[in-house]
Amino acid sequence: KQIAPTIFVIFGGTGDLNARKLAPALYNLYLEGWLPEQFSIIGTGRTQLQDEDFRKKLLEDINQFSRSGKAEKEKWEAFSQHLFYQVSDLNDFKTYKEFGTRIKHLETEWDTKANVIYYLAVAPNFFPIIADNLAKSKLADDSQRVRIVIEKPFGHDLESAKELNQLLMRTFDERQIYRIDHYLGKETVQNIMAFRFANSLLEPTWNRNYIEHVQISVTEQLGAGERAGYYDGSGALRDMIQNHLLQLLCLVAMEPPISFNADEVRNRKVDVLRAMRRFSPDDVRLSTVRGQYGNGWLEGKEVPGYREELKAESNTETFAAVKFFVDNWRWQGVPFYLRTGKRMHQSASVISIQFKEVPHFMFPPETADSIHNNRLIISIQPEMSIRLQVQAKRPGLDMILNTVDMVFDYKGTYSSEAPEAYETLLLDTMLGDQTLFMRGDQVEEAWDLIMPILTTWQGRKSLNFPNYSADSWGPETAEALIARDGFHWFTLP
Ligand code: BG6
Repeated sequence: KQIAPTIFVIFGGTGDLNARKLAPALYNLYLEGWLPEQFSIIGTGRTQLQDEDFRKKLLEDINQFSRSGKAEKEKWEAFSQHLFYQVSDLNDFKTYKEFGTRIKHLETEWDTKANVIYYLAVAPNFFPIIADNLAKSKLADDSQRVRIVIEKPFGHDLESAKELNQLLMRTFDERQIYRIDHYLGKETVQNIMAFRFANSLLEPTWNRNYIEHVQISVTEQLGAGERAGYYDGSGALRDMIQNHLLQLLCLVAMEPPISFNADEVRNRKVDVLRAMRRFSPDDVRLSTVRGQYGNGWLEGKEVPGYREELKAESNTETFAAVKFFVDNWRWQGVPFYLRTGKRMHQSASVISIQFKEVPHFMFPPETADSIHNNRLIISIQPEMSIRLQVQAKRPGLDMILNTVDMVFDYKGTYSSEAPEAYETLLLDTMLGDQTLFMRGDQVEEAWDLIMPILTTWQGRKSLNFPNYSADSWGPETAEALIARDGFHWFTLP
């Protein structure tokens, strides 16, 4: 695959996302030979910097955050020649004219037209301002060459997501818009599609006849910390479930696409969201749980509660668990339990697919584990593995059964390190491949699904927050939510 001459304009060039993710990803792509000779990154921000200062800053960031460790001097020198900085005032038309001049200048120097990718790593209130100004200054006219990358959050609710879509569509075609959900770039997440659709063994059992329930759990030890100010306007449902967890659910539940084409795949995913059962206020009461962490101890350190971090009273949820159903032939009656939370006992993103019991269990109950269903565990992070739990006879003179794991573990199988999600996603924006990006209708459908939960929650203010302590598995009611159906949340040892 060859990348055309490309100019990357990063709005929020001095920001956190560029420092931690974008710059290290671009540098690693460079090291691996993906970037063409005719390639420039223009970082932009309000801070007054010269190109040299910007380069120095990114070198420090890369040394700190890149998976490939400290940059080697010679390679860095060569890479840094592609880096430029422009001071900008995003409300000022002049800023955009200056971009235009720079882009023209580079194209003249290269003697060719370039693809231009505008990466909006800024607060969402700047999205409309930037999109409008790009249009007005005619920087977005060439629909074949210009792309725009939008970071999350994509809207705050259904209405604002629709508005943002409409606003972007005034200037860009859908195929120019790359809405980021970084979970889709994770190696293990991409593998869900490979695993499901390149193996004939799974498909016959991948439905309501054999699968009892599905769990998707993304827990973090990290608290809201310094992001509490931003996070407080969001909460776990908006921050994680609306996007990352529902995207994982789509990958598990989607029908087989006929090809690995961006719209084919995204059509099948949006079908899942459309089939998901909408909640009445009563369903919200019965099928959702929210929580907020108090203070406590985590790995030997005393950690503050959410309200202490925020330095204010708040009813924003830092934990959410929801039981969903997908109303179609494949999944009718199969519950999908999703949960996510901050400051929890373990940082782990795990999908557990539990199969039904055998029709008749001929072994005496005392000879087997109490749960002896087959389970497929897809561990996304930090462990990267797929394990199939099966029953087997323990060696010995008695017939005693144990649950054992058949494991595919990335570390044991491959010696090379997996790329970071942002490497995959940035490369795809340059290649023009939208498979791993959210289409406008997907985002709206996911908002539509969670809106009744958000509104019902907003209406019920008497909460007993904080209701879980650091280092726990969330509020007790979350265990009750799943225990009522006879199941337990699955955790890796
Ligand atoms: C982000 C959320 O989208 O994902 C954060 O805004 C969260 O709150 C993060 O911590 C988790 O991502 P990862 O890749 O660390 O699992």
